[in-house]
Amino acid sequence: MKTPAFIVDENLIRRNCEMLADVKARTGCKVLLALKGFALWPLFPVVREYLDGVCASSPWEARLGREEFGKEVHAFAAAYSEADFAELLTLCDEIDFNSFAQLQRFRPHMQDGIKFGLRINPECSTQDPAHAIYDPCAPGSRLGIRRKDFEGQVLSGITGLHFHTLCEQNSDDLATTLKAIEAQFGDILPHMEWVNFGGGHHVTRDDYDIELLVKLINDFKAKYDVQVILEPGEAVALNAGVLVASVLDIIDNDGAIAILDVSCTCHMPDVLEMPYRPEIDGAAL
Ligand SMILES: Cc1ncc(COP(=O)(O)O)c(C=O)c1O
Repeated sequence: MKTPAFIVDENLIRRNCEMLADVKARTGCKVLLALKGFALWPLFPVVREYLDGVCASSPWEARLGREEFGKEVHAFAAAYSEADFAELLTLCDEIDFNSFAQLQRFRPHMQDGIKFGLRINPECSTQDPAHAIYDPCAPGSRLGIRRKDFEGQVLSGITGLHFHTLCEQNSDDLATTLKAIEAQFGDILPHMEWVNFGGGHHVTRDDYDIELLVKLINDFKAKYDVQVILEPGEAVALNAGVLVASVLDIIDNDGAIAILDVSCTCHMPDVLEMPYRPEIDGAAL
């Protein structure tokens, strides 16, 4: 085999998608593929059989979703430029804002036929401190609007709320987060048509508690009469592929050092930012 190569097993993608489709069938929620987690578009025809669309964080991703996935396209970014927002209007079914300033700036451009939402910050950290760099509820976070910043604001044109606070987490952390959201945003939820629970739900991991997820979604829907949306990235592709590398040389300097034809910078950038360690097939632990 020519290396380096990412090899993805279509049947394992199907297995993951079937698990997500089962959650959909048991709850009536929508499940979107978060393109920032998995954007291997030749497999979109497979994923499209099971999921409802994609969520994008830029016009390029939204265009990829519109042209290659072909179902719903949702977008969230920390802020939009005038040019990006104008392009997203031509590509998206739903666009979420990260601040009231952005909502006010773009309100004159909001169009019928597109849903608009606000990303909230429930200020409820459930992540391992090792993931602090990706914790949208960390002190000083730029992501999501805190409850106190809703005071005096006008919600016209807004039909839903979005939160994304989990990262590789189980449904018990979602339960904790939903409690915080109900405690803080409970007066706003009854006025909403949909609530997007974001990504980070590790649904396809062996020890993930799917029964609890199903119960949480069904209870939330019953209480607030909203469409629930999930937008996992990693769970769609979890354990479905490998990065194949070759050892080009072995250097000795107080231990053997393998020189590979892959690098973290080019092939696994998350290894540098996050405390991820790729599992190496056949390596001694
Ligand atoms: C807004 C938003 N939605 C969804 C996701 C997907 O998260 P994951 O791949 O952990 O499921 C992310 C990832 O950072 C995100 O920022």
